[in-house]
Amino acid sequence: MSDQIPKNVTHEKTWDIGTRLFHWALVICVGAAWGLGKFGPNIMTLHFYFGYAVIALLVFRVVWGLVGPAPVRFASFLYGPRTTLRYLSTLGQRKPSYWPGHNPVGALSVFAILAVLIMQVSTGLFADPDDYINVGPFADLVSSKANRTATFLHNRIALAILILVILHIAAIVFYKRFKGEDLITPMFTGWKKVRRDQD
Ligand code: HEM
Ligand code: HEM
Repeated sequence: MSDQIPKNVTHEKTWDIGTRLFHWALVICVGAAWGLGKFGPNIMTLHFYFGYAVIALLVFRVVWGLVGPAPVRFASFLYGPRTTLRYLSTLGQRKPSYWPGHNPVGALSVFAILAVLIMQVSTGLFADPDDYINVGPFADLVSSKANRTATFLHNRIALAILILVILHIAAIVFYKRFKGEDLITPMFTGWKKVRRDQD
C-alpha cells in the first residue's frame, strides 16, 4: 500500500527531537509510575520519582505546545467540530490519511491524555491514603478530607489513563492494519508522509 504514494504526498519533518524524546520518556515514566502504583512495593519512593519525572515532562510539553515547532503547537491541532466530523466520516476508508501532524481525532486523544496526566500528578501530590508511608509531598497543606478525595481521584484517574492508553495503542494498530499507515516510525525518525492538498 505504502509503495504507491500519491503525487501530492511528501515526506515532511513533522515531530522534532524534543517531542520524540518527550513521547518515549513519557511512555517509560507513565508505564513505570502506573505499574509501581498498582503492583510495586508498599513504600512508593520510586513511584514518586517517576511521578516527578512525568511532571517535568508535562511542563515541557505545555511550554512546547505554546512556543514549540508548528506541528506540535496546541493551536495547530485544535480543530473545530466540522473538521473533526468530516475527518471522522473518512475514517472507514481503507487508505492512509497522510494528515500533516495530529489528525483531528488523534488531536482529541492527545488533549485527553495530557489532561488526565495533569490531573493524575496533581492529585498524587496531595494524596494521603492514611497508611503513614505514602504521603504526597503537599498533603499537609490541605485538610484530611481533601487528602482522601485526592487519593480517591488518583486511584480512579489511574483507570482512565489505562483506558486512554489502550485506545491510543488500538488506534495506532488500526491505522497500520486497516488503513495501511505507519504512524510509529515517524515518532522515532520525525519524518512523516504528509498530504498537502487534502482531497
Ligand atoms: C503510557 C503510554 C503512552 C502515552 C502516555 C502516550 C502519549 C502520547 C501523547 C501525549 C502523544 C502526543 C505527542 C505530542 O504531540 O506530544 C502521543 C502520540 C503518539 N504515540 Fe503515544 N503514548 C503512549 C504509548 C504509545 C505506544 C506504546 C506507542 C506505539 C505503539 C505510541 C505511539 C504514538 C504515536 C505513533 C503517536 C503520534 C500519533 C500521530 O501521528 O498523531 N504511543 N502519545
Ligand atoms: C502519571 C503519573 C502517575 C501515575 C500513572 C500514578 C498511578 C498510581 C497508581 C496506579 C496508584 C495505585 C492506586 C491504587 O491503589 O489502586 C498510585 C498511588 C499513589 N500515588 Fe501515584 N501516579 C502518578 C503520579 C504520582 C505523583 C506525582 C505522586 C506524588 C508525588 C503520586 C502519589 C501517589 C500516592 C501517595 C499513592 C498512594 C495512594 C493509595 O495508596 O491509594 N503519584 N498512583
